Amino acid sequence: MSIIMDGVALRNRILEELRKRVEKMSVQPKLVAILVGDDAASKIYVNNKEKYAAIAGIKTEIIRMPADTDTKTIIAKIHKLNADEYVTAVLIQLPLPAHIDTHAVLNAVDVSKDVDGFTDANIGKMYGAGRDFIVPCTPRGILALLDEYKIDVAGKSAVVIGRSNIVGKPMAQLLMMRNATVTICHSRTPNIADFTRNADIVVAATGKITITGDMLKPGAVFIDVGMQRDGNGKLRGDGDFASCNAVAGYITPTPGGTGPMTIAGLMMNTIDLASQVHNISDPEK
Ligand code: GUN
Repeated sequence: MSIIMDGVALRNRILEELRKRVEKMSVQPKLVAILVGDDAASKIYVNNKEKYAAIAGIKTEIIRMPADTDTKTIIAKIHKLNADEYVTAVLIQLPLPAHIDTHAVLNAVDVSKDVDGFTDANIGKMYGAGRDFIVPCTPRGILALLDEYKIDVAGKSAVVIGRSNIVGKPMAQLLMMRNATVTICHSRTPNIADFTRNADIVVAATGKITITGDMLKPGAVFIDVGMQRDGNGKLRGDGDFASCNAVAGYITPTPGGTGPMTIAGLMMNTIDLASQVHNISDPEK
């Protein structure tokens, strides 16, 4: 049986600490989320962000736009938010409808309000200078969870499954910056188990592939970012929890692991932007 990494408890503690920080700030942080269309999961995510922002003392506004909104209209709205001094953070809920130019929309956000860290300018700092950048919310939450359980990744072998801009790619970069040896697997990788069986840390973010206990090295840290529904419609991660829990040393549950930590990451980023402190990931750490 592994140690279950409790994302709910850590999120709650982080929100409480953030609220104390906000109380001392001269301007209350304000997070604006843009939600385009009717994606059911996105609606739930945005409502959750609003709920937990309130606990951290952060103001929120959700701008809902119909599914047939064009790219130009969304960008014009973002420019207004960029110019609004009371708005300290802007989030574009992804995915956007297929006809929208997602890259153009994400890059319309002023880098000083880029709470997800999805602008090219922020990404460039993450891969280039390696400082003064916003760590995307899910990876930031995962790093906080690793720190909470005193898991040092330096010198360890890490496998990240998934190559999205939201999780896989930044997670791999951040683990490498913490001196892990990182392999990225994805949908075209044959025999993923050949990689995961040798890994000290596995981060799964596919929503498709199922990781079973026999694919893990005994004692490994298994971080599950996937969202899947089992045969009964119940939410589960990419991991088959029972078999992974029997083999891993540490494991995140779904729900209750990386989901709440993504919220914590978002709120930490919101407050860092409002206080003009970009979180810095130290390559020497
Ligand atoms: N959709 C799924 N995850 C995320 C995230 O972290 N940020 C945004 N903006 N959209 C998402």
